[in-house]
Amino acid sequence: MSTATTAHPAPRPAPGPAAVANQGATAEAIQHHYDVSDDFYALWLDSSLTYTCALYQDLADPDETLEQAQRRKLHHLIEESRADSARRVLDIGCGWGSLLRRLAEVHEVPRAVGLTLSATQAALVREQAPPGVEVRLEPWQEHRPEDGGYDAIISIGAFEHFAAPGLSRTERVAAYREFFERCAGWLPRGGRLALQTNVKGNNVVMDRTAVRDQLFIMEMIFPESEIPALSEVIHGSERQFDVVSLRNDAPHYSRTLREWHRRLVTRRTEAVALVGEETTAHYERYLSSAADHFDRRHLGLARITFEKVR
Ligand SMILES: C[S@@+](CC[C@H](N)C(=O)[O-])C[C@H]1O[C@@H](n2cnc3c(N)ncnc32)[C@H](O)[C@@H]1O
Repeated sequence: MSTATTAHPAPRPAPGPAAVANQGATAEAIQHHYDVSDDFYALWLDSSLTYTCALYQDLADPDETLEQAQRRKLHHLIEESRADSARRVLDIGCGWGSLLRRLAEVHEVPRAVGLTLSATQAALVREQAPPGVEVRLEPWQEHRPEDGGYDAIISIGAFEHFAAPGLSRTERVAAYREFFERCAGWLPRGGRLALQTNVKGNNVVMDRTAVRDQLFIMEMIFPESEIPALSEVIHGSERQFDVVSLRNDAPHYSRTLREWHRRLVTRRTEAVALVGEETTAHYERYLSSAADHFDRRHLGLARITFEKVR
């Protein structure tokens, strides 16, 4: 595990209106969350440090481990995007690099490039990078592929950061459209983008507690980020991509979150030593209330495969 940690960070409120108008969360806001402490995340994520919804084979099987379900999720998105037979793959929002390592080590993809806005994530990926893996500390908005483009693109759990809060629907769709235009420009005809993102539930009625919990998550945990409506994602992709498959795996996220929460509670003493009581309590609240949101379908988990048809 990297030692690139920020010891005992005080929980900070949202950085405020610093977000670039329609470009989503700033690097400062991303680092507010992801640079808390690598060692803290390692206490409760699975061993690959995958920090997004897993894919369980059978939700009714209590013996399936988080590790197995995270591997299944990566495999699913790799297959959907056809990255397993690709020469060059882009991972937009690569986190601590589990997908990049899998592409290189299991599928022998010669070149896998990851983008992140988190300095500690980039440092850890570099430390563990097998040959062919490159990580860049840059937003997709500034990314310029070195050798022309990619055969496949995957983005897992980053799209939620691509539009700042407070935008109109039209402005959000415009921000998403820019993302899809870039991806389409980097892919050949027939190339695929596998996207996983949280989405707002399609039929949400929230009580006051749920609204308060959602505001807490947006302000204290994921500042400058906004969860898209599924229709906004699809609208933003129009004229760039056709949709090949779409699934809503909300129950898979509530199980993932509850497992993270269980692991954090089990390792609470170590967590408090690393990041302090207040941050630990904030994460406990965030993980358990987010699980409730997925259970009650305030939130959905979309896995969408896009294909560039012309
Ligand atoms: C929830 S993490 C997901 C990480 C990884 N995909 C996983 O499944 O574990 C979100 C990631 O998106 C990255 N990110 C957010 N906005 C970005 C942007 N504009 N450009 C590139 N990466 C971004 C963050 O730095 C972080 O690595």
